Parts: sequence; structure tokens; C-alpha cells
Amino acid sequence: MKNPATLLTLILVLLLPLSSSAGVTGPCVSCHTMHNSQDNLWVADSAIPNPALLISGCVGCHTGQNDGSNSTPFVHSTTAPQYRDTGTEADSNTLAGGNFYWVSSIGDRRGHNVYGIAAKDQTLNVPPGGDGSFTSQLRCAGSMGCHGDSSFSEQISAVKGSHHNKNQQIWQDGTTLAKSYRILNGIQGFGDSDYEYRPTDQKHNKYYGIDRTSETETATGSISSQCARCHEDFHNGPLTLVPATTLGTGVWLRHPTDFDMSNAISSTEYHLYNGATTYGNNTYSVISPVATSDTTITLNTTIFTQSNDALVMCLSCHRAHGSPYAGSLRWNYKGWPVNGYNGCAVCHTSKN
Ligand code: HEC
Ligand code: HEC
Ligand code: HEC
Ligand code: HEC
Ligand code: HEC
Repeated sequence: MKNPATLLTLILVLLLPLSSSAGVTGPCVSCHTMHNSQDNLWVADSAIPNPALLISGCVGCHTGQNDGSNSTPFVHSTTAPQYRDTGTEADSNTLAGGNFYWVSSIGDRRGHNVYGIAAKDQTLNVPPGGDGSFTSQLRCAGSMGCHGDSSFSEQISAVKGSHHNKNQQIWQDGTTLAKSYRILNGIQGFGDSDYEYRPTDQKHNKYYGIDRTSETETATGSISSQCARCHEDFHNGPLTLVPATTLGTGVWLRHPTDFDMSNAISSTEYHLYNGATTYGNNTYSVISPVATSDTTITLNTTIFTQSNDALVMCLSCHRAHGSPYAGSLRWNYKGWPVNGYNGCAVCHTSKN
């Protein structure tokens, strides 16, 4: 049985005012407990104290329903969030990463089976495209997770210092953990202040990408290279993306990522990205977004406006946490055209 104080402190976390640039704010007691003891009952979410004197772990703090006023980004909901066709509709309430609700309640194919949220994936016990070295169940952070410093196996240790030192108003250049995009160590980008709650072309995350010149991309920091930490071959490596020496001139073996659409052989197809009628200054699509190599905090509201601002990335098609659709896709690829949605057509404007 949990102590009622746990519930009270969690409610306090939910009621915290919107924080500004300085990372987490508010009374220490909302998130920390000095001894995990109050009237000799425990305060945290278990009898065993949490690292860093926290009242809860990652999943506890980041579980809830987003309503636009919560300052903690909620990535897991215990009741169904509103997603609609693309998760970007005016009444949707998931964030940029999607939500772990579906992988925990519907099934394995709806996202990453993170420990504490969903049981280990029954069919996939290793990351597809990986080198075989990753065999554990996924965690949020650390050596078995996506966030934080992968040299730590314990999750809070892996993110230590990032919550208090995060300044959301600067370009995340990846030089420190607190300056890494969404606490993804070394990844660059500029995050939307409410994590893409109901995003528009004027309000969204700015993803960093690299226009690859070789299959074996050596530069680091792109959002797709984050996924490649575990799904190597889907992003990187000789003869995994194109037949020998035909990068940019031939056919592909796997869908390109970190590749600028202006380099495509059939580039005119992409010139009409996102329903444009003329090429240049095409409106950014939150349904099938692209990355950019621009490292300023000026939002990329249009694409084909400067060089390397139309980079295909893993997140052009996927949600990082989970979605209601198979393969954790941003839209229902398999159901189209009967029930689904053809998000591919945002780029492949001459295919339908
Ligand atoms: C005690 C509650 C609490 C715990 C525990 C916690 N978080 Fe957070 N987290 C927050 C709050 C509050 C924010 C919003 C901070 C802000 O407004 O800048 C946040 C923000 C974040 C962000 C977004 C940072 C950004 O602005 O780009 C990420 C990513 C994140 N947390 C991951 C984690 C991970 C991974 C863990 C576990 C290792 C974790 N959190 C544990 C409360 C918590
Ligand atoms: C909204 C939740 C929240 C509030 C409020 C909060 N903290 Fe934290 N704090 C965290 C989280 C989450 C971590 C662990 C993860 C991390 O370091 O990123 C943390 C880590 C720490 C750490 C170790 C890491 C570091 O940055 O030095 C210290 C010390 C700390 N908090 C002190 C405080 C004090 C003092 C207060 C009150 C002024 C406070 N915290 C208020 C969430 C919070
Ligand atoms: C820390 C390792 C790790 C990272 C980083 C990682 N993944 Fe995964 N991924 C896995 C593992 C393990 C599985 C198989 C187990 C599962 O689905 O939970 C998986 C499965 C998947 C699946 C299949 C889901 C299903 O069950 O059908 C997709 C899609 C996926 N990942 C996309 C991504 C994307 C996109 C990124 C980057 C945003 C990413 N992954 C980053 C480890 C990782
Ligand atoms: C053009 C859209 C698109 C892009 C870009 C994309 N994917 Fe996928 N991905 C899909 C689709 C669609 C599926 C569903 C399976 C299929 O039809 O191939 C899928 C399936 C997967 C799977 C599951 C494979 C399995 O064995 O079940 C993983 C893992 C994955 N993608 C990871 C990634 C990673 C990592 C990246 C970036 C390096 C990426 N994807 C980029 C569309 C995309
Ligand atoms: C963000 C833009 C974007 C999205 C979204 C996208 N594609 Fe692509 N796709 C491209 C680009 C750019 C190429 C490379 C074309 C070239 O090199 O000429 C490509 C290549 C391909 C190819 C290989 C063509 C060849 O010549 O080898 C196929 C097949 C394909 N895409 C199918 C899909 C499908 C199916 C989806 C939806 C699941 C999808 N794409 C979503 C931009 C996109």
C-alpha cells in the first residue's frame, strides 16, 4: 500500500506552474524527499528510496494526460489519449514522441516496450537493424535506454544534472547532457516549449539532420543518428542503404534518412512537398516533418528555403515512443486507403 503523501506530492508536481527557461522549478518537496520517511511511512513510490532523493522515477513523473497547461511532458497515459489520423489534429493531446499508451495496452508493435510501462516485446527482443549487442529490455535512460549518458546503467544517474540545468531557449548543441536535445546525449536540435502539444507549421520542434555524402555517416548529433545507436543498419553502414557506390544516383536498399530531398534524382516529385503548388518556401509539415542542418533558433517554418533544410529522418515517419499504429508510425500506413492515412504523399507527391 502506498502512502497518501505519495499521491499528494504527485498532485503537487502536476500543479506546478509552467516553467520558463531554467529547467525544473518549484518547491523541492514537490519532487524530492530527504529521508523517504514521513510519520514513519514512506514518501516515495516505494519503500526503497529512489536515487537523487526523488519521490518517483522517470515513468511516475512522466505519466499523465497532457492538457496544454502541464509543465511535465507526459509521454505515457493510463487512459487512451486522443491521436486521430496523425496526432497533430487540433484536439489531439499526445506530444512529439507520441505516447506509450498503445504499446502498453494494445500490443508490441505500437512502440518501444519500455520497462515499467510494457512487458518485454514478445517477438522482438533485439532492435531490428542492430548489431546484436543490445539484448536487454529497454529503459528510458542509460545504457539500456535512449535518454541520458549511456555509460551509466542506472537511469537517474544517466540523466543527473540535466533537469535543473536545462535551458530550453538556446540551440541544444549537444556539448553537455543539459545542452542535448531532449536529454538525448550529444544530439542537437531546438525543442518546442510544450513538446509539440498540437503543433503547427509555426510551432514545432526543430530537428537537426545531416546531408549525408556517404552511407557511413561519421558526423554525429543528428536526430536519426540517435536511433542508429541501436538500429545501426537502418541509418548507416556500407551496403546497407544503397548498392555499391550509387548513393544519390541509383536505387535505395533501405529508405533514405539524413538525406536532403534536393539531392533526389527525381527531385521534382519532392518540389511540391506538403501540397505546394510551386517550388521553394514550401510550408513545413508537422505530419511528415523534415530535419535541417541549420543550427540557429530561428524556426524552420518553410523548407527549400536554404541548403540542407529538407532532410528525411526517422521521425519523418515514426513516433519515438509509440503511436496507435503498427511500427510506431505517425499515421496508419497499413490501413490506407480504406481506413488509413497516406503520410508518404507529403513527400511522394506524385504517388497515390
Ligand atoms: C520528479 C519528477 C521527474 C522525474 C523523476 C523525471 N523527470 Fe523528466 N521532467 C520532469 C519535469 C518537471 C520536466 C520539465 C522540465 C522543464 O520544464 O524544463 C521534465 C523534462 C524532461 C525531459 C524534456 C527536457 C527538455 O526540455 O528538453 C526529458 C527528455 C525527461 N524529462 C526525461 C526524463 C527521464 C529519462 C527521467 C528518468 C531518468 C526523468 N525525466 C525523470 C520531471 C521529472
Ligand atoms: C519538478 C521536479 C523537481 C523539483 C521541483 C526540484 N527538483 Fe531537484 N531534481 C529533479 C529531478 C528529476 C532530478 C534528477 C534528474 C536530473 O538530475 O536531471 C533532480 C536532481 C537534483 C539534484 C542532483 C542533480 C543536480 O542537478 O545537481 C539536486 C542537488 C537537486 N535536484 C536539488 C533540488 C533542490 C534543492 C530543489 C528545490 C530548490 C529541487 N531540486 C527541486 C526534479 C526536481
Ligand atoms: C537504446 C536502443 C534503441 C534506440 C536508441 C532506439 N530504439 Fe527502436 N527499438 C529498440 C528495441 C530493443 C526494439 C525492439 C523491442 C521493442 O519494440 O520494444 C526497437 C523497436 C523499434 C521499432 C519497432 C517497434 C515494433 O515493435 O514494431 C521501431 C519502429 C523503432 N524501434 C524505431 C526507433 C526510432 C525511430 C528511434 C529513434 C527515435 C529508435 N527506435 C531508437 C531499441 C532502440
Ligand atoms: C519513409 C518512412 C520511414 C522512415 C524515414 C523510416 N522508417 Fe522505419 N518503418 C517505416 C515503415 C512503413 C515500417 C513498417 C514496416 C515496413 O513496411 O517496412 C517501418 C518499420 C521500422 C522498424 C521495424 C522493423 C521490423 O523488423 O519490424 C524499425 C525498427 C524502424 N522502422 C526503424 C527506423 C529507423 C531507426 C529509421 C531511421 C534510421 C527509420 N525507421 C526510418 C517507415 C519509415
Ligand atoms: C520526408 C519525405 C519523405 C517521406 C515522408 C517518405 N519518403 Fe520515400 N523517399 C524520399 C526521398 C527524398 C527518397 C529518395 C529518392 C531519390 O533518391 O531519388 C525516397 C525514396 C523512396 C523509395 C525508393 C526510391 C528509389 O529510387 O530507390 C521508396 C520506395 C519510398 N521512398 C517509399 C516511401 C513510402 C512507402 C513512404 C511512406 C511510408 C515514404 N517513402 C515516405 C522522401 C520521403
